[in-house]
Amino acid sequence: MNSEPIYQTDALIAEDIEAYLAQHQHKTMLRFITCGSVDDGKSTLIGRLLYDSKMIFEDQLAALESDSKRVGTQGQEIDFALLVDGLAAEREQGITIDVAYRFFSTEKRKFIVADCPGHEQYTRNMVTGASTADLAVILVDARKGVLVQTRRHSYLCHLLGIKNVVLAVNKMDLVGYDRATYDTIVADYAAFARSIGIESFTAIPISGFKGDNITAAPSASTPWYDGPSLVEHLESVEVLSGVDAGKPFRMPVQWVNRPNLDFRGFAGQIATGSVKSGDAVRVLPSGKTTTIARIVTLDGDLNEAVAGQSVTLTFADEIDCSRGDVIAVADDPPQVADQFESTLVWMADEALIPGRGYWLKLATQTVSATIAEPKYEIDVNSLEHLAAKTLELNQIGVAELTTDKPVVFEPYADNRTLGGFILIDKITNATVAAGMLHFSLRRSQNVHWQPTDVSRQHHAALKNQAPRVLWFTGLSGSGKSTIANEVEKRLALMNRHTFLLDGDNVRHGLNKDLGFTEADRIENIRRVGEVARLMADAGLIVLTAFISPFRAERDMVRAMLPEGEFVEIFVDTPLEVAEARDVKGLYKKARSGELKNFTGIDSPYEPPERPDIVVNTVEMTPEQAAQHIIDKLLPLK
Ligand code: ADX
Repeated sequence: MNSEPIYQTDALIAEDIEAYLAQHQHKTMLRFITCGSVDDGKSTLIGRLLYDSKMIFEDQLAALESDSKRVGTQGQEIDFALLVDGLAAEREQGITIDVAYRFFSTEKRKFIVADCPGHEQYTRNMVTGASTADLAVILVDARKGVLVQTRRHSYLCHLLGIKNVVLAVNKMDLVGYDRATYDTIVADYAAFARSIGIESFTAIPISGFKGDNITAAPSASTPWYDGPSLVEHLESVEVLSGVDAGKPFRMPVQWVNRPNLDFRGFAGQIATGSVKSGDAVRVLPSGKTTTIARIVTLDGDLNEAVAGQSVTLTFADEIDCSRGDVIAVADDPPQVADQFESTLVWMADEALIPGRGYWLKLATQTVSATIAEPKYEIDVNSLEHLAAKTLELNQIGVAELTTDKPVVFEPYADNRTLGGFILIDKITNATVAAGMLHFSLRRSQNVHWQPTDVSRQHHAALKNQAPRVLWFTGLSGSGKSTIANEVEKRLALMNRHTFLLDGDNVRHGLNKDLGFTEADRIENIRRVGEVARLMADAGLIVLTAFISPFRAERDMVRAMLPEGEFVEIFVDTPLEVAEARDVKGLYKKARSGELKNFTGIDSPYEPPERPDIVVNTVEMTPEQAAQHIIDKLLPLK
């Protein structure tokens, strides 16, 4: 046994890992997670692993012994659960993802175990722990057998690509070390595992409390079992970094190191494969090729580097490469696409809003992505596919997603680094989902942008004007349509080529399938944005009059157009004024409950934070407002 105690109770932080790795450099590292509830004996097992590996500081051990005597539930023996649970209670509050990582090591290997709370609501914790794990220990209580939770945990581990599964049948002491009980549980689990695609697993009869089959010596209580002990198995299974090293070379670029004009290096951690100086590589998404000149590290140049190592690469040629790009072996590069099928694990209290833009982070790439309505939700307990319009906290579903820029990726099943991603809310910056890319949609590869000879500049020049999208936003009855109409009339008198897209009109044709739910309003604005963009490409000055209540979608349309072409005009009419006018009688209906989701009443309106133009309809007549807008817009050339 290694004599140095290494014991960590806090969440893993970079410095800890580095210090830890430095001390145990010669050993391979296995990351694993334990799944099961406290009742299954998870805490006892982890405590036992740490204790038997002598990885607990002496003073901690003394404290544990006296605590066990005081409050222990296990008579005079040491209650290992106290060790883990007690420390868990001390854990810092406020971290959203409640996974504790613990280090220990044996003579052969070092280990990081992610201890994920087993509660059903804690899907996101499991996802976090499992996404970097080589192996999962699924604990079942020998008295209870395979439970709904066992299935749920196994499914998630499989989904997250964990290839090594250990079925630890715990509390064997409480069933008299009965072989038949064990065999039945293993057979039950085997049937389930096959149904979800787990190809193989290792079953071990243990007692975390008594210590049977945990460390090297085989337990005398289970003479019928001739497999490895848990620790023996953990010491010998193949680790992911070993598997990844055998795959084609890929390195996402974290940053470009350019200390002076003579040096330009691309720093990152190698995701898969290995690289040597002189290797032919390709930079994606551009596809440009070059060869590796040097592999630079803090300890000097290397001739070769492999998966897991952090290095700085330099190229033989001056080709473009920046943060987010991926450097790959030249003749076997990853794919590039902008539409995907994916599995999403929703982790936020606020449900998914299909059509809304989220930041998608994949390796070192960050792009804007929109998620379509899920194809289905997966009931993790029954594995049934359920119809779903959205995904809520802890729900898992399959949905298509579209990114605004091409993404360099590989299916998650082949490459966790280039296939796993998170989604971030653009306003709150909170992580709302974790996801796995399955494949790119064929249409995204086969539909190409067709260059046309008559360019948008040419269209505009023929009309002798600069295209604009004048985007009016405001409450229903605020005066958007009236003012937009007045502005268009004045522009027409000035021989400008215009077109007015009005909410009520577009909803009679193009968007007649849409109502007023949040998702429908988002889709309404997305389509109008696309139409406005095409019209601006045709050289027109486009006016749009839609409530367009959400900032995110107005910003999305702004981002579709060249800088300066989108002009956000806030028709600033207080709710009381719009309601008092009630031109269409809709506010009255909304107040009486006859009309649902009405903006300003039971559906929100997010006023622009920095509109390009504001018109106050209390102080100005529609004619004055129109002239004010024209004055701000000219010369429009
Ligand atoms: S948006 O929110 O999707 O931008 P849009 O401007 O197209 O709305 O349509 C708003 C118009 O639809 C209103 O002026 C009103 O005449 C009508 N309408 C009908 N139901 C609603 C509702 N629930 N909320 C707002 N407007 C509604």
